[in-house]
Amino acid sequence: MGWLSSILWAFWYILPAYFANASPVLVGGGRPIDGGRVWRDGRRLLGNGKTWRGFIGGVTIGTLVGLIQYFITPGFYGDLPTALELAFLLSFGALVGDLIGSFFKRRANLPRGAPAIGLDQLGFLISALVFAYPVKTLTSGQIIFLLVVSPFVHWGANYLAYRLGWKSVPW
Ligand code: CTP
Ligand code: MG
Repeated sequence: MGWLSSILWAFWYILPAYFANASPVLVGGGRPIDGGRVWRDGRRLLGNGKTWRGFIGGVTIGTLVGLIQYFITPGFYGDLPTALELAFLLSFGALVGDLIGSFFKRRANLPRGAPAIGLDQLGFLISALVFAYPVKTLTSGQIIFLLVVSPFVHWGANYLAYRLGWKSVPW
C-alpha cells in the first residue's frame, strides 16, 4: 500500500469516531449523564456538558456513518455485520473516551467547556482505537498518523462549529 492510500484508509477507518465525537454539539442537551452527582472532591462527576442525548445521538450517528461507508467500500469491511460492529465500537469508544476526559477535567477543577489540550483532542481517539481493536485495526504507522493529525482535525471542526454558531467557544 502506498503512503497516500494508507493515509486515506486511516481517515476512512476512523470516520465514525470523528462523527460520534462531533455530533453531540448538535444533538446533545437535556439530562446530564452524571445526573448532577458530585465526586468525593465535591465537584461534578462529569458535568452538564455530557448528556444522555449527546451520548446516544453520537453513537447512533457514528454507527450510521459506518453503514453508509459499508455501501461505498464493502470490501474494506468484509460484510455488513462487521462494518456495523466496527462503527459502533469506534463511536461508543469515542464517547466513552470523551466521558473519561471530562471526569479527569472535573478532577482537575476545570469548568465545563474549559480546554484540556491533549485530552480533548486525543482521548476520544485512543479510546475508539482500543474499543475497535478486536474487530479491525490499523497499522502502527496509520495509528501514529491519526494521533498526529487528529488534533488539527479536531481544532478545525470545532472552529467551524464555532463560526457556524453551533458552539460558544472555538475549542
Ligand atoms: N455534548 C453532550 N453530550 C455528550 C458530549 C457532548 O450533550 N456526551 C454536547 C454538550 O452540549 C457539550 C458539547 O456537546 O457542551 C461539546 O462537547 P465537549 O466539548 O466534549 O464538552 P464540553 O462542554 O467542553 O465539556 P467538558 O469540559 O466536560 O469537556
Ligand atoms: Mg469542549
